[in-house]
Amino acid sequence: MKYKILDILKNRNEYTSGEELGKLLNISRTAVWKNISKLKEEGYNILSVTNKGYLLKNDNDILNEFEINKLLDTEIFGRKCYYFNEVTSTNDEAKLKALNGACEGSIVITEKQTSGKGRLGRNWFSSEKAGIFMSMILRPDIIPMQAQQITLITGISVSSALENLTNLDVKIKWPNDVVINGKKVCGILTEMSAEMEIIKFIITGIGINVNNDYFSEEIKNKATSILLETGKRFDRKNIIAEVLKEFEKNYFLYCKNGFNQFLSEYKNKCLNLGHQVKLINKENITFGIAKDISENGELIVEDEEGNLKTVFSGEVSVKMKDDKYI
Ligand code: BTN
Repeated sequence: MKYKILDILKNRNEYTSGEELGKLLNISRTAVWKNISKLKEEGYNILSVTNKGYLLKNDNDILNEFEINKLLDTEIFGRKCYYFNEVTSTNDEAKLKALNGACEGSIVITEKQTSGKGRLGRNWFSSEKAGIFMSMILRPDIIPMQAQQITLITGISVSSALENLTNLDVKIKWPNDVVINGKKVCGILTEMSAEMEIIKFIITGIGINVNNDYFSEEIKNKATSILLETGKRFDRKNIIAEVLKEFEKNYFLYCKNGFNQFLSEYKNKCLNLGHQVKLINKENITFGIAKDISENGELIVEDEEGNLKTVFSGEVSVKMKDDKYI
C-alpha cells in the first residue's frame, strides 16, 4: 500500500490531502498517515502540512526494490533486490541469501557497510549515502579457475555503464579496479562457494564512489568519485540500473561463449598495457612491463631479465606518465 501512495505522490507537484489519498486507495485517513510514516522511516522526504496534506520532495536518492525495479532494463539482474539500511558487508549478506536459495541475479544493496571488504583482506571505506554498495548472486556453470573472469567482465560492465552515463574515459587497472583520470572510482570483490570442481555460487560485490565530495588525506591521491570528476551529483539508482544492464548483457554472453570474446574490449580498457608495473606479492616486490592479457584474462609481464611471466592474481601497481604508481 505504501508504494501505491508513493506512486501517486510522485506524480503530483502540489500537496495531496490525506482524504483524497484515502478515497483513491479505498483506505482510511489513519491508514494513509501510517503508510506515510513508514515511507518517511525508509528515508523519503515527505512534507506533511495540516489542512494541505502531503508533498513528496524530489530529492530522494533511495535504493530499495521499488525504486530500482522501475528503472531496470534486465531480465533477471536486480529483479530481486534485498535492501538494507545497514549491513556488515553486502557480500556477506548476499552469501547468506545464496545459501538460502536466492536465485541468480538477486542483488543486495545497502546504504552503509560497517565492515565493507576490499581485495587482499583490506577494508572498503563505505561512506553512507554517497556510494553504491551492491553484491550480485551468480550461479554460472563454470569451473572455479574461471571465476576470476567474472571479475574482469564486471570491470568491463561497470566501466561501460559509467562511460554511458558520464562521457568520461573510464579505464580498468588489471584485474578489476575501475579508474578515472588515474584514480580509483570503483572496486570489485568476487568471492565464491565451491566444492571440488563445482561452483555453488559466486558473489560479485561492487563498490562505486558516486557522490563523495572528499576523501581522507590517506587516499585522496588514489581515489575519486563521479561527483569529483564531473562536478555533478548523480542519482545512484540510475547508475545501479545501468551497471546491471551492462553486466547482464555481458554475463549472458560470457556464459554462452566464454571470455575470449571480451579480450579485445578488456585490452582496450586496460591501462596497464605498455606501462611499467610493480608486482607486490607478500614481501616480494618485482618490476616489469605489462605486455598483454592472456586468453584467460591473466596479465603477461616481461620481467627485468626479459622473461615473460603470467600473473594470476595479487597486487599490481602501474607507473603513469607522471612517474607515479597507481
Ligand atoms: C577492492 O578492494 O577494490 C574491492 C572493493 C569491493 C567493495 C565492495 S562494496 C560492496 C561489496 N561488499 C563488500 O564488503 N565489498 C564489496
